[in-house]
Amino acid sequence: MKNHQSGKVANGLILGDCVEQLRSVADGTVDLAFADPPFNIGYKYDIYDDKREADAYLDWTRTWTREVARVLKPDGSFWLAIGDEFAAELKMIVHRELGLSPRSWVIWYYTFGVNCKYKFSRSHAHLLYFVKDPTTFTFNLDAVRVPSARQLIYADLRANPKGRLPDDTWILRPQDVPEGFAAEGDTWYVPRVCGTFKERAGWHGCQMPEQLLGRIVRACSNPGDLVLDPFAGSGTTLTVAKKLERRYLGFEISPDYADRARVRLEAAQPGQPLEGSDDPHVTVKRTRKQKASPTAG
Ligand SMILES: C[S@@+](CC[C@H](N)C(=O)[O-])C[C@H]1O[C@@H](n2cnc3c(N)ncnc32)[C@H](O)[C@@H]1O
Repeated sequence: MKNHQSGKVANGLILGDCVEQLRSVADGTVDLAFADPPFNIGYKYDIYDDKREADAYLDWTRTWTREVARVLKPDGSFWLAIGDEFAAELKMIVHRELGLSPRSWVIWYYTFGVNCKYKFSRSHAHLLYFVKDPTTFTFNLDAVRVPSARQLIYADLRANPKGRLPDDTWILRPQDVPEGFAAEGDTWYVPRVCGTFKERAGWHGCQMPEQLLGRIVRACSNPGDLVLDPFAGSGTTLTVAKKLERRYLGFEISPDYADRARVRLEAAQPGQPLEGSDDPHVTVKRTRKQKASPTAG
């Protein structure tokens, strides 16, 4: 990216190590950063080695998160996706060491995790939401409201007609807890990008759902703002930013992922709808087995 030093960042997905690339981004130029780094769990990426010594992983995390904090605007926001293994340490680094203020610790619930024999099967990931200044930040609540139970069930005239803010537990498969997450509920449903979904690019195992990023980008940035993703992967964050008419800048260390993500990004157009439905009962079709046994994983 030729001109990201000037502070006038053009849209782009750049092939390279995010730490090196971030060093050439000017201070205080990014409105929203979303990072979904490797979780250090031995996941098989094409070139990145996802099994490092814990201390090396944490030192590396310090380095890239420091750069992210530096490039954020004074009223900027930072969302960090992370697994159980390092969620606590990463929260400490960003909050206590870098001084960003935590706003929400979102649990993204799903049931597609690996079945475990001698411990409880993993069914969630963490989405940590921070701001640089706890008194000044973008949060567009009207852009992310959901209908409330008061509106949908009780037709209560006192209900806010705009709906209410979603909870901080995000459900991927409401059919797993039908008694708790019925259609009229107001918990946020975001289906995972499963292998059979039209949305799935099919070449990146960690592709996030566009609807998930949609809520974050709508809530924490405005059209024309700059959205940064240091670990672009299949390009979900950048694609959503482009569709929602934000500027975008991403880095990806794998030449193959970067090439393919660029193709995805070029196909996306400003104003185009996001993939997936924000109504999971439309997107997540039940199989016969799930109908018979709602908890089938
Ligand atoms: C969890 S995936 C991101 C998936 C992405 N959120 C999506 O929806 O497709 C992490 C990505 O970070 C990339 N990566 C690892 N180390 C990197 C580095 N130092 N700089 C840039 N990208 C890196 C990996 O190649 C991988 O594609």
